[in-house]
Amino acid sequence: MIEELAKNLVHLKKELAKVYDGNSQIQEVIPVSTSDLFPILQQDLELLHQFATKNPIYYNSFEKTIGNVPCIVYEGDINKYWLNSIQHGSSRAPFSPTWIMSAYVGVLLAKDLGYQQVIDIGSGDGRIAFCAKVLDLKSYSIEIDDMLSDLQNLLTILDFHPYCSDAMTFDYSSLNLTQPIFFIGGLAQMGGIALASGVLEKIDSISDLKKNAGWVFAGTYSQKYAPDPKNEAGWGTLIEKNNLKSIQTLSLPTVWTFHEQDETPYIFAQTI
Ligand SMILES: C[S@@+](CC[C@H](N)C(=O)[O-])C[C@H]1O[C@@H](n2cnc3c(N)ncnc32)[C@H](O)[C@@H]1O
Repeated sequence: MIEELAKNLVHLKKELAKVYDGNSQIQEVIPVSTSDLFPILQQDLELLHQFATKNPIYYNSFEKTIGNVPCIVYEGDINKYWLNSIQHGSSRAPFSPTWIMSAYVGVLLAKDLGYQQVIDIGSGDGRIAFCAKVLDLKSYSIEIDDMLSDLQNLLTILDFHPYCSDAMTFDYSSLNLTQPIFFIGGLAQMGGIALASGVLEKIDSISDLKKNAGWVFAGTYSQKYAPDPKNEAGWGTLIEKNNLKSIQTLSLPTVWTFHEQDETPYIFAQTI
């Protein structure tokens, strides 16, 4: 069901890309109501709409039927957040968001795999942590940038525990994690390896936690980057070095792939 939902979302994105004639810097869609293609609880969809409506990165929204799916299209601009996010000495990835619907589908899989806490590393506006809370998981959001962290505090319609901190020095033992899954916000080739390695090292130092932990890595097959010799959309070498194995990949729309044919592969991995 989750794979199917991901495919339907990719189809929706491709349809939007065909018909979109606005000129906003970023845009994304959320279906208005539950349907055969998007069998999502109506109350969950409504929370996703609230997150977008209250979010200052979006300045406009309108109803549009895309394919056969009545949706709200949200239009926005992330420039000032992007610029602020790159100025920190230990920033390992500039701000660019995954789609809210993609965050929801990714967290659905994390929940289906049995994880109980979602830790959104390099969380931007906190949408992955927010979706985890919508899906009744414990969630924590770690973001280095103060402007984004302030923005997250406007969006705690549900409390997803935003922390303004460098994820590579954060004290994870303070969260009392038991079966956590870490979503790493950054492409391998753009600083994500350093970000993930820093967090892996911290988790390794907490006794017995790593064997119960899951990892989600945002990948790319773009030819702009040299391929990783062990594949996994840029993450293969890190996965092997840390005794992890990739268990499933979900292809999902993100803001940075809106104009591209390929979506973002989210690689789900766990300890061998
Ligand atoms: C590509 S964005 C991903 C945002 C979000 N996870 C999403 O998918 O929508 C990467 C985010 O990581 C943050 N970041 C970069 N280095 C960090 C670090 N060392 N600790 C915490 N956050 C960091 C950036 O400020 C940026 O907001």
